[in-house]
Amino acid sequence: MNTVTPLVQTLGQRLRDAIVAALPDAADVSEVDPLIRPSDRADYQANGVLPLAKRLGVPPRDLAAKVATLLENDDLIVSCEASGPGFLNITLADSAILGQLVARSGAERLGVGLHGTGKATVVDYSQPNIAKEMHVGHLRSTIIGDAVARILEFLGTKVIRQNHLGDWGTQFGMLIQHQLEDEEANGFRAASSGVESISRLNALYRAARARFDGDPEFADRSRRRVVELQAGDERTLAGWQEIVRESKVYFNEVYDRLDVLLTDDDAVGESFYNPFLSDVVTDMEQRGIAVRSDGALCVFFDDIRSPDDKPVPLIIQKSDGGFGYATTDLAAIRYRVGTLDADRVLYVVDSRQALHFRMVFEAARRAGYLTDGVEAVHVSFGSVLGKDGKPFKTRAGETVRLISLLDEAVTHAKATVQERDSGLDAEALDQLSREIGIGAVKYADLSTSRTRDYVFDIDRMVSLNGNTGVYLQYAHARIRSLLRRGEAQHSASAVLDTDVALEPAERALLIHLDELSSVLDTVVETYEPHRLCAYLYALAQAFTTFYEACPVLRAPNDTIRANRLAIAQATGDTLKLGLGLLGIAAPDRL
Ligand code: ARG
Repeated sequence: MNTVTPLVQTLGQRLRDAIVAALPDAADVSEVDPLIRPSDRADYQANGVLPLAKRLGVPPRDLAAKVATLLENDDLIVSCEASGPGFLNITLADSAILGQLVARSGAERLGVGLHGTGKATVVDYSQPNIAKEMHVGHLRSTIIGDAVARILEFLGTKVIRQNHLGDWGTQFGMLIQHQLEDEEANGFRAASSGVESISRLNALYRAARARFDGDPEFADRSRRRVVELQAGDERTLAGWQEIVRESKVYFNEVYDRLDVLLTDDDAVGESFYNPFLSDVVTDMEQRGIAVRSDGALCVFFDDIRSPDDKPVPLIIQKSDGGFGYATTDLAAIRYRVGTLDADRVLYVVDSRQALHFRMVFEAARRAGYLTDGVEAVHVSFGSVLGKDGKPFKTRAGETVRLISLLDEAVTHAKATVQERDSGLDAEALDQLSREIGIGAVKYADLSTSRTRDYVFDIDRMVSLNGNTGVYLQYAHARIRSLLRRGEAQHSASAVLDTDVALEPAERALLIHLDELSSVLDTVVETYEPHRLCAYLYALAQAFTTFYEACPVLRAPNDTIRANRLAIAQATGDTLKLGLGLLGIAAPDRL
């Protein structure tokens, strides 16, 4: 495992060293942030000298000039000039930039180091509800959670995926009751595919609901069924398990199409916490963290109030004695920290649940389930809208079926691929359409800053122009094709030469390539995959600029050609790695 330190990082250290040398009498300047930013005038501008000088009461321009002089002979830098009130403009040496390419080309993981710290991170994502259609909110959670989990894992964090399925609640009474009565009358038949499962479950739901609302005796039987379910009656449990099993057939089909990492092992639904609920409630009541209010057991917060200024409590036991969603989340935190030994718990859930998580986290802190040093974060996201700007629904006003949505994306992608007439056989065509169509849906979601809403527009998603998944897949495939031609025409043995003067487009591309690991660091600090998308998009654009300005196969000589092929290779590899971390395929041909 050889980690390649990014140039900005090395540059930062050199600047700090120079600052320390320039201020021999000042204490604690060795940790100063030189504030290196990309610049139009040079490669970088360092802005950190100015505030430091002000803090120490020395003239900023003098300090900047001194630091610049100290860096005059640095092998990384060709020029470092003090400018303005105390900035430094820094231009890197071509040899240093090419040196990074050489180092990364030979390194595993493109030289990105393992930065993971801590014990384990739980990522709670996807979380659909049993016996119900997954909706676009679950789609977002699944896509975002999966990308965040992949990136954390890539950087060396131990990730524990938890699919907090909504698999418990009073609605199961009527579902099980109806199913049992239906089976008695008509016999049992199991569904075979995800589509069949969900159609059956939808039908079951509708039928049970209609009877529940229209037939008081059935409603009574359903309520008794809930009690039996909670008491663990065998036949009732078997009915529940059957419904859960059938739902999972559907969810797994969606996961399979989406190509996400979730497996059955990660499905730790709400029901899993049933045995722990009464203990949590007793514990919190005994320690005075929760108090009785109108018969319910509640946790109150000073700063959480309703619009008409009443305290809004977190209810952990209803007045009828039942536990709810919040109680389950408290038991889940306790389990994740106490048993799974996580030091970070991420909840990838839509922003409408922000208040719920604020209260759960605060209550869990008070109870000591969330201990010092353990972080709980609501990684929230906005809504998916239709083209009319309203929440995404079908024309008939129903929630959109995820499987049909994904099918539609794949069909659109197929049309795009067929237009290009790539001479693929049917199987390859299908595979490619899936990779493009699903990639398009995922990328459209991930490339939007997650807290914002976005419009679901399949035509735009599969477009070859703009910041789309297809654009990046295409950029990647074009580079692979260039490399194939390069390999066919020239022996691959040419050794890279770092002693070559770089064209501006080469410099820009190489500097961008060197920033991958810093971008990944930011993604795990913010849980914002769109930063990686923006990076990859800018990378593809930088490659286009490079390719237009710098002939590769027709380079002026062998050395330059070898260097440019290596630049293309590094770009292709970076695109592939980046797309992979977003859970998107990067096929070699399009
Ligand atoms: N199943 C819930 C829903 O569909 C989301 C669960 C989120 N995770 C959690 N630990 N509460 O709204």
